[in-house]
Amino acid sequence: MSGTEPQEENKAIDETNDRKPDIISRHRPGRVVSHERLEQQLIFKTENSVELQIRVHTPDIIQLTYFLVGDVRSDFSYAINPDFEPEDVDLQFEEDEGYFQFSTSRVNGIVTKKNLLVHFFDSDGNMLCEDQHGFYRRESLMKGISEIKVTKQAPAGDRFYGLGDKAYEHNLRGRAFENWNTDAYAYERGDDPLYRSVPFYAALHNGRAYGIFFDNTYRTRFSFDRRENNISSFSSEGGVMNYYFINGPDLTDVTERYTRLTGVPEMPPMWALGYHQCRWSYYPESRVRELAETFRDKRIPCDAIYLDIDYMDDYRTFTWDTELFPDPGTMISDLSEQGFETIVMINPGVKVDEDYFVFQQGLENNYFCTRPDGEIVIAPVWPSQCTFPDFTHPDVRDWWGSLYEDLMAEKNISGIWNDMNEPAVFEVESKTFPNDIRHHFDGHPCSHKKAHNIYGMQMARASLDGMKKHNPDKRPFLLTRANFAGGQRYAALWTGDNIASWDHLKLANEQSLRLSISGYSFVGSDVGGFVDKPSPELFTRWLQLGIFHPLFRNHTMGYNVDGAAAVKKEEVELREAQIDADQEPWIFGDKYTDINRSIIELRYRLLHYLYTAFYKYVQEGRPILRPLGYYDQRDEQAVEESNEFLFGDHILVAPVLDKGQTEVEAYFPKGRWYDFRSNRCYKGKHKHTIPAPLEEVPFFVKEGTVLPLREVMQYTGERDPELLELNAYYSKSQVASQLYEDAGEGYEYRDGKYRLTTFTVKSSAERMTITAEREGAYSPPYPKTRINIIGLPLEPSAVQVDGEEKPLPEASRGTYTLEVSPDFQQLAILQKK
Ligand code: GLC
Repeated sequence: MSGTEPQEENKAIDETNDRKPDIISRHRPGRVVSHERLEQQLIFKTENSVELQIRVHTPDIIQLTYFLVGDVRSDFSYAINPDFEPEDVDLQFEEDEGYFQFSTSRVNGIVTKKNLLVHFFDSDGNMLCEDQHGFYRRESLMKGISEIKVTKQAPAGDRFYGLGDKAYEHNLRGRAFENWNTDAYAYERGDDPLYRSVPFYAALHNGRAYGIFFDNTYRTRFSFDRRENNISSFSSEGGVMNYYFINGPDLTDVTERYTRLTGVPEMPPMWALGYHQCRWSYYPESRVRELAETFRDKRIPCDAIYLDIDYMDDYRTFTWDTELFPDPGTMISDLSEQGFETIVMINPGVKVDEDYFVFQQGLENNYFCTRPDGEIVIAPVWPSQCTFPDFTHPDVRDWWGSLYEDLMAEKNISGIWNDMNEPAVFEVESKTFPNDIRHHFDGHPCSHKKAHNIYGMQMARASLDGMKKHNPDKRPFLLTRANFAGGQRYAALWTGDNIASWDHLKLANEQSLRLSISGYSFVGSDVGGFVDKPSPELFTRWLQLGIFHPLFRNHTMGYNVDGAAAVKKEEVELREAQIDADQEPWIFGDKYTDINRSIIELRYRLLHYLYTAFYKYVQEGRPILRPLGYYDQRDEQAVEESNEFLFGDHILVAPVLDKGQTEVEAYFPKGRWYDFRSNRCYKGKHKHTIPAPLEEVPFFVKEGTVLPLREVMQYTGERDPELLELNAYYSKSQVASQLYEDAGEGYEYRDGKYRLTTFTVKSSAERMTITAEREGAYSPPYPKTRINIIGLPLEPSAVQVDGEEKPLPEASRGTYTLEVSPDFQQLAILQKK
């Protein structure tokens, strides 16, 4: 082992600022002078005291951490799932002439002796990811660390995906991005950064994928060949260079492994996957009741209604405006009788008001964020003077959680919506706190530079804990705006304050797909657009996209701004101003109301399927939404496709995203795909022109799928379904698909009360068989199952269900429909001899 002093390679007086000279040091690793192996860890030190630790967590997940003398050495991470368990890995390690070599059963790596570069290969020796200059750090006496960076090769043709929330096309190549949670009201395509930070990307190199997760909460920057020099890099303004290399070879594997590392949420209540209605804001109480009644009168399914900021008493979080809502408990319970869950907004800014209990408690207990010298930070958000809890302190989180007692335990609120938690600050250019605000950071005190990006995530964590504590038998639904990598464990996301435009419809899809492949499957956009009013056509197309996004919420800023100003000046009545900005599914006239109703009904038909996809996300980290390139990364056309996507494993969606469009040119990846509407089958690896009139959304089911369809209800828990419908699509090859069921609420599923059915479709020249294997102790409520057999090329002579012959049903437009017990195990359709 060698010297302990960092060698400053380029020590110099910074002459760029001669009034305040600073001492700058730049570090690039020199020659490796020592190495050490400790079970699943390798440690290398260079002549200039850079230390690299390589830790192998699984054969596919390898962590690299670079240190210099004086660094904070701690394994603490908000992002890594506390339940993540590293595996025992057979790590091979050898020293060669110019380099060290290490390998797991799946990945090989080398570390160069000359300058500590690290290169990764797959187990067949194919290059995956190569350092260019590798590690670099710049620091100065006055500012401390100002840049830590890793530079890698980005050979021509490599593509880059993920990075959480970027309003940009799928492939990030050619651009640089920043992660710094920002209140990005009315953002446009290309604006960066947005509301949340996920410093994780996946790369596709020669058909093989790998991922990089840079576990650093400071402002991070990612560049993907931005200067067209075939170099990529990731860097931050502080902290430690600590990143994970995640092996593929498939893009979906990379997301799954990343999600395993950073965690998943628990199963949501079934209702949370229904349709949600929001606006800024529904008030007074009579308006909320009218809204609920209109949904039921018009027979438009809806499960949730939101109360935005105006329900509060002068924006005091955890209070009610008792003039607008004199008896919230009764209102919530009446809404619940009608099948509506109520979701309320909770913001982090606590109004400065000595008579307000939240402010008093926070002040007494020193729960608010302070400046370095101890002063409490006061800044304008909705109230013109707010203080802000330091959610990075465990006691503050406990306290914040305790504030939910009344909402959860007394009022039986079903969902919470955390907003403005970037944290957003009004009236300042930075839109947030100054960098020198102090945070506890769970026992690792630091400045806002380090805590900014996890502030919202820790608020969500506190909210979720409080919700669960105060209503432990009910599954919580929490929505947050800001978040960080790993925050998917706590809350669903929406893509923030978008605009009612056709480009934003595309963006809503791109952003939701991107978040989904970045570990956040529970996502969606403000359907219809938050800012401005959509045309009827745009609104309908947005609903059609929204039924395939796990969070399906219509939201708009409503009459605020212009309307509110007019109301204030008493130019118009409140409701008059509101009507102009209404965005409920019925406001565009009867024609559109009917179309919109049938779209929302389709979402309710697909709920079993979505719930099962959610189950797979929770079990395996499998993203619910995926771009086509994630379905077949070796298919160039699929990789290039930007609008179509996979919804779960078995549905391909070709959404209409352009004005006036009534057909889509859809590219079908490998396999055969049945149009859900017509049952027409399309061959994969081809483009087809597909009709898409305004009232229809083109989507396709993969051959061999058994697609569960739920009865349409006005809300998910309206009644026990009488029937489960299964569409079984013929396939020549053997295909498996699953159906996950449980009570849709509560936690009995954790004690085995669930039912996971694996359907297998198999066909030969003489028969098509569907087998159903089941596990779990849940008995679904419906007494019968109806199977629709679709696409059968045979001319059937007989049907056998569990070995028993049944009358052959008449085919209707090529589909054979028969009813069987929900516990059937095998169904066979036999060809005429
Ligand atoms: C923010 C939110 C938006 C909300 C509004 C009022 O702009 O992003 O969804 O309606 O604040 O609370």
